[in-house]
Amino acid sequence: MSGRRLLLILGFSLLITAVSCTPSHPQSTFDVTGPIASGQRDLFSLMFWLAVIVFILVEGILVYAIFRYRKKSDGDMPAQVHGNTRMEIAWTIAPALLLIVVMVPTIQKIFEHASPPDNSYEIAVIGHQWWWEFEYLDCGPVDCAGLVTANELHIPAGQPVNFTLVSEDVIHAFWVPKIGGKRDVLPVPKNSDGKLDLVHQRANQLWLQGDVPGEYYGQCAELCGVSHANMRFRVHVDDRDTFAQWVSNQKSPNSLPSNTDPSYQKLTTLCAACHAITGTTLTGVIGPDLSHYGTRTTLASSMFDNTPENLKSWLRDPGAMKPGNIMAGSIKPGTLSEEEIEALADYLLGLR
Ligand code: CUA
Repeated sequence: MSGRRLLLILGFSLLITAVSCTPSHPQSTFDVTGPIASGQRDLFSLMFWLAVIVFILVEGILVYAIFRYRKKSDGDMPAQVHGNTRMEIAWTIAPALLLIVVMVPTIQKIFEHASPPDNSYEIAVIGHQWWWEFEYLDCGPVDCAGLVTANELHIPAGQPVNFTLVSEDVIHAFWVPKIGGKRDVLPVPKNSDGKLDLVHQRANQLWLQGDVPGEYYGQCAELCGVSHANMRFRVHVDDRDTFAQWVSNQKSPNSLPSNTDPSYQKLTTLCAACHAITGTTLTGVIGPDLSHYGTRTTLASSMFDNTPENLKSWLRDPGAMKPGNIMAGSIKPGTLSEEEIEALADYLLGLR
């Protein structure tokens, strides 16, 4: 390879690497909110800058020695040195001290991050191939117990939340890059009531806190099958009032369309087999809960914006939009008529 070509490739790789470091990326771990993600970022920065100093120091001495003591003539033989007690002690103690500097804050953070504060809210996270289910268990003064939603999580700003992580099928991992994670979501058995055992020894715990209101990206971080990369979610960090309003709205019942609506028959038979809508006869547990679906910003585990066009495309042929999803097993192109698709999209987006 010519020198110029090598330089070009090197320059291009450097540029790509540098561009990927932009902190404004939605899944950046540098542009963070809350104590967990910022604690992790601070630890990373400490280690990074220490490593930079060590690198410059060691490489500097190396480069200096290469030039200073290079062979100057054919008969030139450098002094042969065997052992230097002082230097050997120095280069044993210096790295040990450096490791202590890194170790103390690391262990501090491990303990801090392992124990949720006493006032934490409690939410169960259930991983499915390939979507997320959230069941609210305890929100302190806000009555959220029993609230179930899918793929979009709401939490109040400045509030620690303890997540219990369980999976219904394979191993997933819960990660909200700007707020914290990742932690494995492991399969657990079901109790006699058909619900996953949240106190099983494989049920993992993770606490997080978002400090700045906004919409944050979440992502499954463990290869879990064909749509692993599509197993995304959103975290809405709300101010306290907005959160309380969201909870009370989510808990209020939805209603079915009139039984003459073109969507009614499919809703109560086909959709009802997998989906639940609070306050209606739809109580399926296989697919995402669709209660108040119209308030969500995304569709198909946060792959797409929740627009009428995207929703209609989804209802027409879900398999074409998200590989491997179970809905594609029963909804093929033509399963729903255009009239039904139109009416279903209207109804679902109207669930506010
Ligand atoms: Cu779930 Cu990757």
